[in-house]
Amino acid sequence: MFRLVSLVVVCLAAAVAAASPHGWERQEAAGEPRADQCTGFDNSLRFDCYPEDDASEDKCKNRGCCWRPPDTSLDRVALNIPYCFYPQNYGGYKFLNISDSAFGKTAYLQRGTKSYIPNDINIIRIDAKFETQNRLHIYDPSNERWIPPLPEMPQVDTKASDPSYDFVLEESKIGFKVLRKDDSEVLFNTQDIGGLIYADQFIQMSTLLPTNYIYGLGEHRTTFPLSTKWQRFTTWNRDIAPSEYTNLYGTHPFYLAMETSGKSHGVLMFNSNAMDVLLQPTPALTYRTVGGIIDLYFFFGPTPADVVKQYTDLIGRPFLPPYWGLGFHLCRYGYKTLTETKAAMTRTQQAGIPLDTMWNDLDYMKDQNDFTYDTSNFAGLPDFVDQLHQNGMHYIPLIDPGISASEASGTYPPYDRGVELGVFVKDSAGKPFLGKVWNPQSTAFPDFTNPKALDYWKEMLTTMYKLFKFDGAWIDMNEPANFLDGSTTGCDKNTLNSPPYTPAVAGGALISRTLCMDAQQYMGKHYNVHNMYGFTETIVTTTVLAEIRQKRPFVISRSTFIGHGRYSGHWSGDISSSWSDMGWTISELLSMSIYGVSLMGADICGFNGGSTANLCQRWMELGAFYPFSRNHNTKDVNAQDPASFGTEVAESSRKALETRYTLLPYLYTLLWRAHAEGTTVQTYAIDTAFLWGSGLFIVPVLTEGTTDVTVYLPKAHWYNFYNGALLSTGGANTTLSAPLDTIPLLVRGGNILPMQTPSTTTTASRKNKFGLMVASDESGSASGSLYWDDGDSLGTYEQRICNLITFELQSSQLTGTPTHIGYTGESMVLGNITVLGVSSASSVTVNGASTSFTFDSSNKVSTLHITMLLTCVNSSMLTPPQENNGKRGETVIQKTDFESIERHHSQASLALKCTSF
Ligand code: NOJ
Repeated sequence: MFRLVSLVVVCLAAAVAAASPHGWERQEAAGEPRADQCTGFDNSLRFDCYPEDDASEDKCKNRGCCWRPPDTSLDRVALNIPYCFYPQNYGGYKFLNISDSAFGKTAYLQRGTKSYIPNDINIIRIDAKFETQNRLHIYDPSNERWIPPLPEMPQVDTKASDPSYDFVLEESKIGFKVLRKDDSEVLFNTQDIGGLIYADQFIQMSTLLPTNYIYGLGEHRTTFPLSTKWQRFTTWNRDIAPSEYTNLYGTHPFYLAMETSGKSHGVLMFNSNAMDVLLQPTPALTYRTVGGIIDLYFFFGPTPADVVKQYTDLIGRPFLPPYWGLGFHLCRYGYKTLTETKAAMTRTQQAGIPLDTMWNDLDYMKDQNDFTYDTSNFAGLPDFVDQLHQNGMHYIPLIDPGISASEASGTYPPYDRGVELGVFVKDSAGKPFLGKVWNPQSTAFPDFTNPKALDYWKEMLTTMYKLFKFDGAWIDMNEPANFLDGSTTGCDKNTLNSPPYTPAVAGGALISRTLCMDAQQYMGKHYNVHNMYGFTETIVTTTVLAEIRQKRPFVISRSTFIGHGRYSGHWSGDISSSWSDMGWTISELLSMSIYGVSLMGADICGFNGGSTANLCQRWMELGAFYPFSRNHNTKDVNAQDPASFGTEVAESSRKALETRYTLLPYLYTLLWRAHAEGTTVQTYAIDTAFLWGSGLFIVPVLTEGTTDVTVYLPKAHWYNFYNGALLSTGGANTTLSAPLDTIPLLVRGGNILPMQTPSTTTTASRKNKFGLMVASDESGSASGSLYWDDGDSLGTYEQRICNLITFELQSSQLTGTPTHIGYTGESMVLGNITVLGVSSASSVTVNGASTSFTFDSSNKVSTLHITMLLTCVNSSMLTPPQENNGKRGETVIQKTDFESIERHHSQASLALKCTSF
């Protein structure tokens, strides 16, 4: 399933035009525009004709564009409103012909006047493939140009019979329109706006948008709804501490748009080259990329959840992480010894804080070299890892892609074998490309697009696995990061290393802090595949780990690309230990969820700079609700593991993490749904709070010294998670009390959350009794489900070695339906049911038998303590079994066919007789 082979098979040859060894010459388009072509423009309709820094009136007019200092009455904006903009009827291309095709429409365009960029492509073909009812694909298949390969991306060659969209071409207008059929909303309109340029190393296309509510275009540090006030989002994977207005570690040129009608749609520009995407208040968007093709996929929703499902249908659904990976992780750069690592772990455990996985950074390596460990400072590492396993815990080491090229020959097999197998990225002369990362002299970079890299990486990871039995991989620095700009000898001057146009990348050059663009990879020039370096490393690492461990891989990668979530998770890199950085993590989390990356987290308590007790207390509370929950710190600053700040921080961390562990069955079910159906784990349209699924609203405190927090609650019944009281019926701003040791959590009426009694590891908590939190909505109904499997084996869902139990509350009756029972490895015992929103309760029966319960009349909560098996149904369920009846193997029905489940279904239902919800 994860073989790189498929990735290679779909690879197209890189076909950026041969680089001129002498750099490039800019050419100017002929013809100054007529004055009347430049008048009557609203500021917001200006499309930038001179994105470089050295604009002047002459240079602008030489491009055939209009020069007018703008009316600056608009708000201050991130970019200048263009002084130099495209005139009306800029032209450039003309349609040669338009025809219907077997799968949609085809048109040819021909360039008339030259653009100002060298190597215009004179004939463009546009194919519109009506791929599915809700997916349209528009691309140019005419040139043998670079297209990034994604494993198993669906290739469709038939026309959807009933598409929900229209694709409109008109001979007299350059460009096209995409409409949603049922409301005729124009979602994308490139006709006669901006300047369409399609040159070898510069492709530019603008479109009008139907809305200013745009989300995505990452990876960036931005508000979750993006600003459309003259913003530029540059994608070029880069090792950089996150800040606003810069490219970061990953590339996801996908956006979700929320229309004013409440419907939504999504658009992917499937292109791996360096790219600027501009948003302006028109509202409008411009793509400006330096290679590849225009390759657009449209997803027509109409709900945001539908859009993400349709998107992950194309790029791959998020992977299902092992259950232990949802526990709390503790890490830092600068546990200088194994003793320090153990000390942090021990003080965490002594404070009663749940902890599943210990991590080590570079420190564990000998001389910072991959696949080694420091046998003096980390003497005993293998035993430590074994001990962790015996305690039901796990261990993850950092792995960098850079392999030291400066060890004495014959002393460091990772380099010697890499040379022997020819798997390193090559320089333009065909030798291993040498940059510099942690090692003092030089570093080579495995080329993960080379099929042989799979064998190489497997050999290396297997060797390390023989040393100590690590459980996952933390793959870092894979943008790829380089401490030099290019190689140890610089980069040649050519059109790849200095293209005609450089997007607004940090450092001002594509080679900044990475490889030379003409470095050679198996699939093509680094210029084209740079943004996929970390992604290809992720695929290879995930594949190899699954083969070595024969268990579900747990990989966290810093660099990401379209489709990443199918293989691994992500953390948001080197953020600072500051209140504002803590706040930013929510929009980062939400954005990644729409890119199909479910397993996402940020360094809890911050990475760069020392954290404080106050900050760390609130951040531990928030981080307990990141899907990937890890406290990680940089070196040479104070410790920030939760117990290091004393009892108060330790206690609130324990409380927050115990709540997390209580809710892990719910989180796991959400991750499974994301994996199986493409739903998002977390949602919301603002970025100061977020939801897990539709049921749990997490409202963190993001400012120092505050003990309440105000949030807008949509119309619904909202209950306090901790005591079950109905807080609000929504539709208004609501202030929630947030004492220092508490993160406000709200349960939305209508949801049933599966839970489990927490323990200090997930290995232990998985053996505890389950619980249900049933939150009734205004009509007294609720529903939910629980997905369960052994949490660690490969392909459990695909092979249906799993259980799915659905719950429904209606007319005062709660019914549990074992929809699928395929996992009988451990019994699933239900221990208690808490029903929220009960106005009075006189009796409760379980399967017809009256049973005891408690009723909290002030909070209107009814709680029932029972013991019954969830996975199986038999007559013993008619009366609740005794406590010990629910132990492993005793009453579990081993036969799991659907028929028997259906037959017993009615007996399995629980009847909770509570009066008037
Ligand atoms: C950069 C990573 O982002 C950070 O998490 C790690 O601690 C350092 N590299 C050192 O390995």
